[in-house]
Amino acid sequence: MKRYVEKGIRALTTPERWPTYGVKLWVGTFAPLSRLPVVGRAFARLVAVGLGPYKAKRRFVKLTGRSYVSPRAQIYGSTLDLGNRCFIDDHVTIYISNRKGKVILADDVCLYRGTVLEVVKGGEIRIGSGTHVQPYCVLNSVIGKLVIGRNVQIAVHCAFFPYMHRIDDVSIPIQEQGFSSKGGIVIDDDVWIGTGVKVMDGVHIGRGSVVGAGAVVTRDMPPFSIAVGSPARVIRKRTEHPDPASHGEEARTR
Ligand SMILES: CC(C)(COP(=O)(O)OP(=O)(O)OC[C@H]1O[C@@H](n2cnc3c(N)ncnc32)[C@H](O)[C@@H]1OP(=O)(O)O)[C@@H](O)C(=O)NCCC(=O)NCCS
Repeated sequence: MKRYVEKGIRALTTPERWPTYGVKLWVGTFAPLSRLPVVGRAFARLVAVGLGPYKAKRRFVKLTGRSYVSPRAQIYGSTLDLGNRCFIDDHVTIYISNRKGKVILADDVCLYRGTVLEVVKGGEIRIGSGTHVQPYCVLNSVIGKLVIGRNVQIAVHCAFFPYMHRIDDVSIPIQEQGFSSKGGIVIDDDVWIGTGVKVMDGVHIGRGSVVGAGAVVTRDMPPFSIAVGSPARVIRKRTEHPDPASHGEEARTR
């Protein structure tokens, strides 16, 4: 009890901490109510207003230790498996067309604004713990699986397609030929995928690799490699260090 009184006095006497305490109080009051049936959604919106915009809403996860699913996210399908402390931002869409499809998000996964996860037919998307998907990415699975490891950083505007349209028969429209897959996409742990990258079906990106902005990845990448371009080519291993002069080191040390 004494501890709480001391905490209360400290809170009242340190004005620079008032916004933080205010948010804590707000979340502490309304977050439990957001679990109520029927009216819970209204309280979820109320909590969101008090947290501030965009990534400021991640404070909900920090303060409650629970997952945050924005009331403005669209989630369709009953086979979403959501881990602990996940953050699903405004305008994220998770669409699972039927019960054969699956989306599995491990603990601490963050999906930011405007990202779309779409699973149709018997597809599957799995995202490992601590992985962050920045705004406006598209992750699709129709027949091939998309498996993303732990602590993967995916920058804005990336796309992953672990399947292709069949195109062998020129006598019928492509739209009617169905899909094929070379085995889906696997991205190992601790990969950094730069902005605007497209990853094609059948690709395995090895642990600790880096894919440069704008690359189109059509082939496997060995662990700890850096690849750029379209199609992406490995330019070096992370363990090989580039010439410092070409990295502006010379200018900085002058
Ligand atoms: C891939 C990357 C990490 C390489 O960085 P780096 O090791 O400093 O590489 P360098 O700048 O020394 O470039 C090495 C070569 O690759 C080329 N290159 C670098 N990035 C490239 C890219 N994205 N696409 C095509 N070529 C690229 C360079 O032109 C250079 O070619 P050269 O040797 O013929 O002159 C970096 O360029 C990149 O794309 N980072 C992603 C940034 C991003 O998307 N951020 C989003 C927010 S997280």
